[in-house]
Amino acid sequence: MSAGVAELLLQRLEREPAGPGGGLCSLEAAAALGVEHQAVVGAVKSLQALGEVIEAQPRSTQRWELSPEGSEVLRDGSPEVRLLRSLPPGGLPPAEASKLPGGSVGFSKAMANKWLHLDKGAPGGPRVLPTVSAVQDSVQENLRRVQRGEAEQLPERERAELKRRKLLLEVTLKSYWITKGSAFSTAVTRQETELTPDMIATGSWRARPFKPYNFSALGLPPACGHLHPLLKVRSQLRQIFLEMGFSEMPTQNFVESSFWNFDALFQPQQHPARDQHDTFFLLDPAEAPAPPPAYAAKVKKVHSQGGYGSQGYKSEWRMEEARRNLLRTHTTAASARALYRLARQEKFCPVKLFSIDRVFRNESLDATHLAEFHQVEGLVAERGLGLAHLLGLLRQFFGKLGITRLRFKPAYNPYTEPSVEIFSYHEGLGRWVELGNSGVFRPELLLPMGLPENVAVIAWGLSLERPTMIKYGINNIRELVGHRVNLQTVYDSPLCRMDA
Ligand code: PHE
Repeated sequence: MSAGVAELLLQRLEREPAGPGGGLCSLEAAAALGVEHQAVVGAVKSLQALGEVIEAQPRSTQRWELSPEGSEVLRDGSPEVRLLRSLPPGGLPPAEASKLPGGSVGFSKAMANKWLHLDKGAPGGPRVLPTVSAVQDSVQENLRRVQRGEAEQLPERERAELKRRKLLLEVTLKSYWITKGSAFSTAVTRQETELTPDMIATGSWRARPFKPYNFSALGLPPACGHLHPLLKVRSQLRQIFLEMGFSEMPTQNFVESSFWNFDALFQPQQHPARDQHDTFFLLDPAEAPAPPPAYAAKVKKVHSQGGYGSQGYKSEWRMEEARRNLLRTHTTAASARALYRLARQEKFCPVKLFSIDRVFRNESLDATHLAEFHQVEGLVAERGLGLAHLLGLLRQFFGKLGITRLRFKPAYNPYTEPSVEIFSYHEGLGRWVELGNSGVFRPELLLPMGLPENVAVIAWGLSLERPTMIKYGINNIRELVGHRVNLQTVYDSPLCRMDA
């Protein structure tokens, strides 16, 4: 609608001289174009949004308009004139006279004008008699002048009288005084609101006008916050750990030294996982502070010469390698630090610890792998623990997640012996899927720390993403993490319950 009106408006404006001399009143323009004033206002607003095409000064104009009663008087005459005209020459008793056309208003006005005379002593009771034969209807005449647009020419007193009698209304009209802008043109070009790849490729953006940003526009207020599926599963896992009596380990350092990530965990310095292909090493700062010297010496010894009944790796162990900074590849680095703190305590006490945090691996990215993900890890340190405790604990933990069909498979980790991979049968996928990895920490790891000989540590780890993807039926990890996440699924996803 307003595009058409806008064009017509510009055509009319074109005929006006530029500068203060020329311009259009939006009210007059609406009348001239034969459209509602509101349509002209809409066109003015959309033209203003284009920049400097037009200038529009808001104005308010007072205007006199006939009220509905005023229109009646214009058509039929004023009540007092109508009353006088219908009064018979012989007059009427006052009660009857005020029932004539014009009514009581006409009666009292005609009395006040002295057009009527009340003969109190008339035979048969008081009577109203006309004192004039013909009068001029000045009220009707004044209203006719208002109708002709001459309200301003009426004597102030008469206009006030018409207003007092509610025949005339003073209305305030909001309008615009429209003049040409510095970029006036009758060709209305729509301003671009989006820069498209096509515009960049063809270079057409150079010639296009762009709509300026409106920095003061208010955004939509978010109804409330929503938890991402990963956060929901994380809070459920945390809840399970807490129910089982575990406490949370500090995991705030994403940057870790090779020492805690690998060496403390009895992972040989020649291990392929310590390669650039699997691990992100830091260039700046490339070197971590030195590990505790007495402990580091024991780690060096167990790696290079063996000890505690182990042969070790019988290869060179270099401190420079141990001090290389990296982005931790597993939260087991945090577990190693926690166990070292435990070993440093004056007196050993059994602990159950867990962590859920981010880890980084230099993997090739695909539908199920990202270079960063989250690990969930639990450990129990206590005297006399063994494989049976580990398997029982895993059944209990996964049972709380609603996962009951479990299979355990022997595996290898440098830091656990025995090592066990955990599989669960996934009804939806119809196959066994790997859920995590676990084991009993090796003495080569625990004894250099100084833990008592009969203390064993059982531990397990799993990714947070795997169970979340299974739970929410997400096949591509990019739909779970990153800029391609559909926020609607975050808003809509129900509270998480891990039933198979
Ligand atoms: N750190 C192992 C991983 O990254 C998981 C694990 C934790 C294994 C604890 C055994 C014991 O997969």
